[in-house]
Amino acid sequence: MRGSLLVDHIGELVTNDGRDGDPLGIRRDAALLVEDGQVAWVGPARDAPAADRRIDAGGAAVLPGFVDSHAHLVFAGDRAAEFAARMAGEPYTGGGIRTTVGATRAASDDDLRAIVGRLRAEMLRQGTTTVEIKSGYGLTVADEARSLRIAAEFTGDTTFLGAHVVPAEYAGRPDDYVGMVCGPMLAAAAPYARWIDVFCERGAFDADHARAILACGQAAGLGLRVHANQLGPGPGVRLGVELGAASVDHCTHLTDADVDALARSETVATLLPGAEFSTRSPYPDARRLLDAGVTVALATDCNPGSSYTSSMPFCVALAVREMRMTPAEAVWAATAGGAAALRRTDVGRLTPGARADLVVLDAPSHLHLAYRPGVPLIRQVLHNGVPR
Ligand code: NIG
Ligand code: FE
Repeated sequence: MRGSLLVDHIGELVTNDGRDGDPLGIRRDAALLVEDGQVAWVGPARDAPAADRRIDAGGAAVLPGFVDSHAHLVFAGDRAAEFAARMAGEPYTGGGIRTTVGATRAASDDDLRAIVGRLRAEMLRQGTTTVEIKSGYGLTVADEARSLRIAAEFTGDTTFLGAHVVPAEYAGRPDDYVGMVCGPMLAAAAPYARWIDVFCERGAFDADHARAILACGQAAGLGLRVHANQLGPGPGVRLGVELGAASVDHCTHLTDADVDALARSETVATLLPGAEFSTRSPYPDARRLLDAGVTVALATDCNPGSSYTSSMPFCVALAVREMRMTPAEAVWAATAGGAAALRRTDVGRLTPGARADLVVLDAPSHLHLAYRPGVPLIRQVLHNGVPR
């Protein structure tokens, strides 16, 4: 859409242009000008420039659009029965991943495209303007490549997760599978992927396999991410830090050495409280990470097994209630933190030059995202400056 757009009468504008003491960089009684899909100006409402069009926020809060840096959207089927069994006492082991692999392989390209489109639209309605999308439910050369090809129709942040689990046809032959992931599967996936990820966990890939997979992805030009320390303590976090991963995700079971390594690194700890909610597991200790100086992001982990939510507001509320984050820390982690986890500087903030991705809340303050859990508070979304 051409021409300028003024968002006016903003009661509380979260810019994330923060200094010590106010990481959210909050401005009151503010306005924001959008030109060519970018933030062109931010300032007091009384100084607002003229514009071709105007949105009156009516004193509400305006935030950067959420950056969901961890989502598995390319899948078919659901696992509602597995969820019900868990709520009746069964543990989560990740074993259900293979169920979804079967359903995904059997789906057509159009089926998968429709599922990703539906979830992407669901996310946008809840204020998510940037999303990372992983493969990982194909686990053949052709199915991983098509998963990423379809994901790339929806985002630039696509992640090759061929190393999600060892598929049934490679049972007992993990070395062969890892060789295949690093060979023909990576070659077919890399043209559609920005990132590579590995599920480094007992029952999935051990430290040696994870290291080999991340190294071959890096050699192919992909950035690194790791599913680490979700189901128990393990080597994933420190491996990710050592190899310079942009993010290590889950971080549910951490030792002091893991926290120290993160604190001394540029690697973001991405916490996924939807997974602990849906697997009825203990939540990660966000307070310990924040107090150590680690950069923390929040994401949904949207997938049909461990976390079938697409809602960043829900994750913010969980992080505040269950992980001892302040509302300001949680909102920062769901916006600027997600951007850091994706090494993006164009999103997650509302300052001149940023992409004009924002949400107008049906509330006067960001606090309401945690204070009013489960309430649809996203009144309006601008994506690339376009009202959605
Ligand atoms: O991030 N942990 C591995 N992968 C997903 C779960 C996938 C599934 O259960 O289908 C996760 O939680
Ligand atoms: Fe995940």
